[in-house]
Amino acid sequence: ERVLVLNGPNLGRLGSREPEKYGSATYAEVAAECVRLGGELGFAVEVRQTDDEAELVGWLHEAADGKIPVVLNPAAFTHYSYALRDACAQRTAPLIEIHLTNPATREEFRHTSVVAGVATGTIAGFGLDSYRLALRALTTLPA
Ligand code: DQA
Repeated sequence: ERVLVLNGPNLGRLGSREPEKYGSATYAEVAAECVRLGGELGFAVEVRQTDDEAELVGWLHEAADGKIPVVLNPAAFTHYSYALRDACAQRTAPLIEIHLTNPATREEFRHTSVVAGVATGTIAGFGLDSYRLALRALTTLPA
């Protein structure tokens, strides 16, 4: 089964971006780990990242049309993109919102997720394990 792991703005800079918050693993390492663990769990995982809201919305349309489960780190779009929320709402398969950090412990503007209400569930605060836990969660959900 295919799974899309989609990443929003600035996540391509993992490794050098505020490592004290987001960890030292590079984006390439995170992507490789998702593909590796996904394979072990029986998924064909494709990992993508964009800084562009329109591109991310397009990928969610693709997932909806293909009934493809999604692991989504919406990054800053989490907090204000109603366009992203509306795209997620069209999902036809599970969609798990994830965050490396726990936004609830951070600045006030990060306490709101406009995506959470249309996601299957949310996993936040476990670093790279947030990605791993989301892939494992998909194994327990009806496609
Ligand atoms: C993030 C949390 C967001 O608030 C932030 O804008 C990000 C990353 C996380 O993975 O912890 O870019 O989604």
